[in-house]
Amino acid sequence: MKHLLDINQLSSREITSLVQRALHFKHNPIYPRYSHCTMANLFYENSTRTRVSFELAANALGISVVNLDLSRSSECKGEVIDDTMKTLKAMGISLFVIRHTQDGLPQALSARIDDVHIVNAGDGQHAHPSQALLDLMTILEHKSDLTQLKIAIVGDLRHSRVANSLQCLFATFGVGELVLVAPAIWHPKTVHYGRVTTSLREGLENADVVICLRVQQERLCDAEQMDLASYRRDYAISNTSLGYAKSDAMVMHPGPINRGVEIDSDVADGPQSFILRQVSNGVYMRMAILDALIADGRT
Ligand code: CP
Repeated sequence: MKHLLDINQLSSREITSLVQRALHFKHNPIYPRYSHCTMANLFYENSTRTRVSFELAANALGISVVNLDLSRSSECKGEVIDDTMKTLKAMGISLFVIRHTQDGLPQALSARIDDVHIVNAGDGQHAHPSQALLDLMTILEHKSDLTQLKIAIVGDLRHSRVANSLQCLFATFGVGELVLVAPAIWHPKTVHYGRVTTSLREGLENADVVICLRVQQERLCDAEQMDLASYRRDYAISNTSLGYAKSDAMVMHPGPINRGVEIDSDVADGPQSFILRQVSNGVYMRMAILDALIADGRT
């Protein structure tokens, strides 16, 4: 793997290998050392989980990390991202983890900048592949046969890069039933896999996994605004709505969570919640991604 840009670039074999690698790191804390490598985190959007877990993953593998503070970088003086990356590359940085508001930018950069590895850490409303991979790892720790599962993704599907990447991932593995649940105003523009419903009850009925999405206020235009009290009434994951799913259903959320909006605290902190497990697994999955890029990927 030279870059990680999108789930669609990966075969089922490559995805399985990444999950196995991440699980191996989780259970065998003897890691390869890549002390000759330096990684730059370029985050043009806010992040806690993704940025910190890539940094921790790099540290665990002996990779030096530069967190560029973009509010103080020379991009404020008119430098474009291509020149920022070429400048960092000239200093010996070969790995770039990029989060950006622009759909497709990491892919475009991978075609313009030679001899580097690029990881898409979330581009606009397009893709968030490392999140989808860590979600798959978390599901596979607890559920064995994806073809027998019913999975519901609930929330703002219209603007969710996580939902896009998950649909592509679940299509690759032929998940038994994928239901995308949202009010009509937040239905996805494109469905990659699964079916869409406005009924939370129907979507959650007998589900094995419930993936709750954040209401992304910052991405909503005027025509997409929804009264949050109505959303909470009809779509929140509460103990009542979770009761439609199987009694051992996993509750997941990529984070950050809005307590009392898309998910109740009773559920987020409850026995069926895997939200913090996703966060912990994120470090191991990002170690697996960096390892695959360095060990297998030629620049
Ligand atoms: N899930 C996710 O991408 O979280 P952060 O925005 O905190 O990185």
